[in-house]
Amino acid sequence: MDAADPLAPLAADLQALPAARRRRLRSLAPAGQAAFAGEERPLLDLASNDYLGLSRDPALQRAASAAIEAVGVGAGASRLISGTRPIHAELEQALGDWLGRERVLLYPSGFQANIAAVQALADRHTWVLADRLIHHSLLVGIQASGAKLRRFQHNDLADLEALLVRARRDAPQRRLLVLSESLFSMEGSSPDVAAMAELCASHGAALLLDEAHSLGILGDGGRGLGYGIGEISLISGTFGKAFGSGGAFLAGNATVGDWLLQHSGPFRYSTALAPPLVAAAAAGLRAIQEREPERRALLERAERWRNALEAAGWPRPGGRGPILPLLVGDDQRALTLQAQLEQAGLLSVAIRPPTVPDGTARLRLVLRHDCPTGTLSRLIQALGTP
Ligand SMILES: Cc1ncc(COP(=O)(O)O)c(C=O)c1O
Repeated sequence: MDAADPLAPLAADLQALPAARRRRLRSLAPAGQAAFAGEERPLLDLASNDYLGLSRDPALQRAASAAIEAVGVGAGASRLISGTRPIHAELEQALGDWLGRERVLLYPSGFQANIAAVQALADRHTWVLADRLIHHSLLVGIQASGAKLRRFQHNDLADLEALLVRARRDAPQRRLLVLSESLFSMEGSSPDVAAMAELCASHGAALLLDEAHSLGILGDGGRGLGYGIGEISLISGTFGKAFGSGGAFLAGNATVGDWLLQHSGPFRYSTALAPPLVAAAAAGLRAIQEREPERRALLERAERWRNALEAAGWPRPGGRGPILPLLVGDDQRALTLQAQLEQAGLLSVAIRPPTVPDGTARLRLVLRHDCPTGTLSRLIQALGTP
């Protein structure tokens, strides 16, 4: 008897994938962000999360190069073996001071940090109450923890409260964890973080807030929307977006920090964040602190873009940060708009299911601090009639 092909289920799955849902990898030209490799036409980047343009900032580039010279490229081991260098501890201290949190631990990526955070705050007896649009990494964390998942409507505190009340009524001692983000990356929207934290505290629920997209951009001095709210059990942040580097961190009080150090698998069993990324993240943090006017200007400009898109007949993008999703609904229409913009020299990416719910495909426009003047009118013209 012929043995079955063990990869047959994958092939069948790929065959069933509709063309408008198929993804492809394209490389940006190494010389700059302005063109795809192998293509002539320069493109203006309205897609990446490098909101403040720090990834190419000379201060960050110098910091990374100096760390390579002084410390080396890789850390060579996990933090608890021999991978910790003084720059790891210095960055953790600087972030803790900036955010007003007792303990910060670095992780190699935000995806990993989120898994670690959920595992710290939930076990198989826990109910996790999560915004229905949370990031995939948090869902993976819930699976890893074995907790039960209940979802509340996006940014809907009344719905969250109803779930909390029910969870407490059914099992008063049950461990509860609420998950949300302070700037949803595909929506551009934010919850009322202070009210959410109060609600969680009043029901004895822990709150994990993913601040991946808001750190450096939203809140007092760019410290995120969780800044100053002590009821939040853990903050998760990444250096891969506004910080212009790579890697991530979790910030919380001394107890949760020590628990992570003692027990977190994604912390203990992974090579420490590479020294050049640590040094660049530290330089990114200094840049964020020094460039408050740029941050404010970006937010004001985002508001002008929202007004102009609305005036041109497009649905007003939600929220108030630099992520401006144009909701178009149909997958193919979103891809057509992406191609239209590319023809006009603008790079923006169509976001389709399963990244977003069915029927809500969108063009994810991202405003960056260094977009040249005139970009908005180019964009509106390239989008054509709604
Ligand atoms: C909301 C959110 N959380 C976490 C992550 C993961 O961060 P990282 O890119 O550092 O793995 C991302 C990035 O895609 C994100 O958008």
